[in-house]
Amino acid sequence: MKRRLIVLTGAGMSAESGIATFRDSGGLWEKYPVEQVATPEGFDADPELVLNFYNMRRREMLKAKPNEGHRMLAELENDFDVHIITQNIDNLHEQAGSSRVLHLHGELMKARSTGDDSLIYDIDPLHCDIRLGDLCEKGFQLRPHIVWFGEAVPLIPEAEEITHGADIFVIIGTSLNVYPAAGLLNEVKRNIPVYLIDPKEVHTRRYDIHHIQKGASEGIIELKKIIL
Ligand SMILES: NC(=O)c1ccc[n+]([C@@H]2O[C@H](COP(=O)([O-])OP(=O)(O)OC[C@H]3O[C@@H](n4cnc5c(N)ncnc54)[C@H](O)[C@@H]3O)[C@@H](O)[C@H]2O)c1
Repeated sequence: MKRRLIVLTGAGMSAESGIATFRDSGGLWEKYPVEQVATPEGFDADPELVLNFYNMRRREMLKAKPNEGHRMLAELENDFDVHIITQNIDNLHEQAGSSRVLHLHGELMKARSTGDDSLIYDIDPLHCDIRLGDLCEKGFQLRPHIVWFGEAVPLIPEAEEITHGADIFVIIGTSLNVYPAAGLLNEVKRNIPVYLIDPKEVHTRRYDIHHIQKGASEGIIELKKIIL
């Protein structure tokens, strides 16, 4: 039986594909205050601004390609039962060929009804903007299918269950600032090896983490040498 390799990814995973992270200098939060573009209150105050912010992110993502790191994680499925839990809203893991990807914070290529959470629609890449006045089948405004700050993270129980089953746990490109995603680390069983790939120091409460202080692609090459 293949060992279960669970990988938690964040914005740094897609940095080499040219998608800006949020907290690094030059990151998106410097240009767009989080309260304005990533909270339900921000959306209520100025829905058009928020829709446009995500329309820009979607257009940017449609131009981006998976990087070597995304591709190597997909290839690891030959040797491991790989599950990716991502905080990213892009679809670069899927484009690279990963078959089990859980999007904790939603997906940029989906739209959701503001009046009925169960109404979720795929966005056509050729008509990829959500505009004010675009409605669901029940007549409610559409919004990005994204978990904003202050909103519940409905996939957390599933992510915790996947994390409990890890034989190896790997964290790539996340500052571990955003909860409950960052709390998944506490769900990893004792004695399970934990690797962290990030060029910067990342603060965690666990002392037994093997930090590979490199960018995603280089870091995964090193990880492969250890775990394969
Ligand atoms: N691509 C995306 O979908 C995207 C992009 C930006 C933000 N977000 C969202 O913003 C939130 C931000 O939290 P976060 O922790 O994911 O991001 P973050 O911006 O807080 O942290 C990014 C981390 O990536 C590291 N990093 C930078 N370049 C890297 C590289 N080449 N290789 C590996 N690591 C690198 C940084 O040192 C940092 O620790 C998340 O909820 C996420 O949903 C998503």
